[in-house]
Amino acid sequence: MSTFKEIFGTEPTVRVSAPGRVNLLGEHTDYNGGFVFPTPLSYQTYLEAAPAEGLEVYAENFKERKSRGLTEAKQGDWLDYLAGCVWVLRKHSHPVPGLRAHVRSEVPMTGGLSSSAALEVATLRALRELYQLPLDDVQIALLAQQAEVEYVGVRCGIMDQMASSVGRPGYALFLDTRDLTTRLVPLPQGYRVAVVDSSVPRRLAESGYNTRRSECEQACALLGVQSLRELSPAELPRIHALPEPLNRRARHVVTENQRVLDGVQALEQGNVRCFGELMVASHVSLRDDYQVSIPELEQLIEAELRHGAVGARLTGAGFGGSTVALVEEARYEEFKQGVMQDYPRARFL
Ligand code: GLA
Repeated sequence: MSTFKEIFGTEPTVRVSAPGRVNLLGEHTDYNGGFVFPTPLSYQTYLEAAPAEGLEVYAENFKERKSRGLTEAKQGDWLDYLAGCVWVLRKHSHPVPGLRAHVRSEVPMTGGLSSSAALEVATLRALRELYQLPLDDVQIALLAQQAEVEYVGVRCGIMDQMASSVGRPGYALFLDTRDLTTRLVPLPQGYRVAVVDSSVPRRLAESGYNTRRSECEQACALLGVQSLRELSPAELPRIHALPEPLNRRARHVVTENQRVLDGVQALEQGNVRCFGELMVASHVSLRDDYQVSIPELEQLIEAELRHGAVGARLTGAGFGGSTVALVEEARYEEFKQGVMQDYPRARFL
């Protein structure tokens, strides 16, 4: 591993980090103004930085050094995430001249665990410190999302950046994406949040994700609402009258929002079994109504439930990537062995 000093010949001025996330409940609700319930991972992206003109960055994971001027266009590479952060700050009249950085990430890059949000939040934290910018953690999350949507060109919601910027280890973050209010809820004692990668890359994720987003917009137009958040489960009969597959998409979002509210209450009351059942119900809805599961995720989740998980579901956008399961600490080893046997490609975090 190379150090900042070895790469750039000087010492860094700031050292920051930001975590990846796993979502416990509330999937595909963030771009519908709904509720989400993610928790930060212990896996971090580390960034050491110093002031500079333009970007000069070394990525330890790729053993690659790249530079870019402030007026150069995006290239479709990893440097876009850092360049997007500088770009978005300048767009908001923070005249940052650039940065020199050494980046190292522990967050797996293919499992749907928000390695990009972690990189953006770490970059913005470094720039905040380097140039004394008056930004709070919620503003950092919003800027990170704007960099990803407008510069990198991925139309994501706000969940990942908020989980990385505002989340706290040991807590799940109950977030209302409509007004960005949050509440931290302690994770249950005696249980492990098991994050397991299916090892299937999320190949169709981007096109599938965008299709789902526009289906939600079509459902809103037909129902005469600004966002699906405005609808409660009492309005399901109206939703059922929509044409296929808009009825399914809207039903998922509306019932998923309710599951987050019920799940937060269950965890606050120490009812882990109930929370587990809500995770399973969320998965069924993602599989049948939102249709973002794939056969491998089904096999993995079945194995997790068979080997003792109180709840398990796909996490993130779907179409591959990771699952999240809740497992009693005392049964974790047995769970892991069993899952490995039934789904040998499982990668445990
Ligand atoms: C991706 C996006 C998030 C969210 C999830 C689905 O992770 O980045 O904003 O929409 O998918 O819940």
